[in-house]
Amino acid sequence: MLDCNNMNRRDFVTRAAVIATAALCGAPLMRCALADDSEPLPPYSIGSLADFPKDGLYNTLEKQHQILIARENGKLYVMTSRCTHHGGMLNIAPSGDHFICPIHHAQFDEAGNVIHGPARKPLVRYGISADDKGNLTVDPSKIFDKQHWDDPAAFLKVS
Ligand code: FES
Repeated sequence: MLDCNNMNRRDFVTRAAVIATAALCGAPLMRCALADDSEPLPPYSIGSLADFPKDGLYNTLEKQHQILIARENGKLYVMTSRCTHHGGMLNIAPSGDHFICPIHHAQFDEAGNVIHGPARKPLVRYGISADDKGNLTVDPSKIFDKQHWDDPAAFLKVS
């Protein structure tokens, strides 16, 4: 608690300057942070269906887009590559059938379910679509939690 009665003039001026500086610097930062959160990322290309020819996990676009791709049981889908614990970048396990976080070692199965903590929430998926030539587009503004993984926009049927 600020006690102005026991504050000399020098302390008062110093504290007022600190508060004014924080207010001036904080406003643009807050505006910037809000802009980042409120502006959806545009859709982007991830290649074609031929780039994901067989069932398995793909991390070829992890560094560029922070996504993981899985093809299994006739579906192709895109997940975040950020761990739901504290955001570590997930790796494909040496066995090739699940993901591991290098930070605290949470594990997720190929669908994005937690199979080992400390993470508790499954991975979200992003919207995916294909044109008539098989070119794939991911829409990161369409986010699907586990309850919506079966939404038609959350995966592509593949044969
Ligand atoms: S950040 Fe992934 S387990 Fe903690």
